[in-house]
Amino acid sequence: MTFARIVATGSALPERVVTNADLEKIVDTSDEWIRTRTGIRERHVAADGETTGDLAFRAGQQALADAGVKASDLDMVILGTTTPDIVFPATACLIQDRLGANGCMAFDVNAACSGFVYALGVANNFVRTGQVKRALVMGAETLTRMVDWSERETCVLFGDGAGAVVLEASDEPGILATCLHADGGYKDLLYNPVGVSVGFTDEKNHGVRIKMRGREVFKIAVKTFDALVGETLAAAGMQESDVDWLIPHQANLRIIEATAKRLGMSMDRVIVTVDKHANTSSGSVPLALDAAVRSGRVKRGQNLLLEAFGGGFTWASAMLRY
Ligand code: COA
Repeated sequence: MTFARIVATGSALPERVVTNADLEKIVDTSDEWIRTRTGIRERHVAADGETTGDLAFRAGQQALADAGVKASDLDMVILGTTTPDIVFPATACLIQDRLGANGCMAFDVNAACSGFVYALGVANNFVRTGQVKRALVMGAETLTRMVDWSERETCVLFGDGAGAVVLEASDEPGILATCLHADGGYKDLLYNPVGVSVGFTDEKNHGVRIKMRGREVFKIAVKTFDALVGETLAAAGMQESDVDWLIPHQANLRIIEATAKRLGMSMDRVIVTVDKHANTSSGSVPLALDAAVRSGRVKRGQNLLLEAFGGGFTWASAMLRY
């Protein structure tokens, strides 16, 4: 049987760090409030002119270099993002050209914060059916571009960043199961109302801004992860105790702790980067994965459970042998 295996990871963050203390100067908030409600201490914010594609390109380059794979050997470049550089071409096409992978398929997946795990699920199926031998799968965002810096309810939550993996066809187990879901009935709880077809100006709310009903999102995210964990374990034929590392979407430490509890896992087997990165949407899971690999915590042969949740609502998971 052919599996899709992660052969290398990469990541990229903007240089500029904005701490909770910095935000105290622009909105009525406190480091203590942000830390206790979310676990966030700081976030990276893209410089003027620095794009999602720039970050994903750097992450992708690093993953390719670590994999020892030439860009020209890729059959697929796929990017999870909800903040593309321009409307079209897809940011994946822009990155494909910069890498020199011209000719292979390249496209973006917009599943909000679940974008990377969705992209991984799509790539996995292409590899398993033999249509793709090598894929570059990325998740990247510059979500701070659509944050209202005067709205304390949302501006403290988000950051920018990118992560990437190189997937290769292998006889050795790699991705064991993926579960992808969406329910557009929840579209009003987390969204950005502007866009091409409805028009780019949100006159009532003065611009391109994230709208969120935080408390409701929180409750549904916790319940959804609870069910998703059970579904993913069943799909992979595994038990809670088989999972070596939980690599969750990094939106809120309290949501992460609830999922760890459901799995009966202590927090020292959970990868947490929300304190340093805040919520980087599609960038969050691959950034956490790369941090875990580079720090030596995640080792070859270990079982990783990746999971994400975002606007749509969308939710997705992957169980894989690293
Ligand atoms: N600083 C200080 N006070 C703030 C604040 C901030 N940055 N943001 C909100 N508050 C206030 C509120 O106005 C509210 O005040 P009130 O009680 O006087 O009305 C109070 O803090 C409590 O708000 P509440 O919404 O109950 O807080 P919470 O414990 O639910 O935490 C979130 C708020 C947003 C951190 C939390 O709901 C959350 O993380 N939700 C999920 C968001 C998410 O993950 N979105 C992305 C999903 S991919």
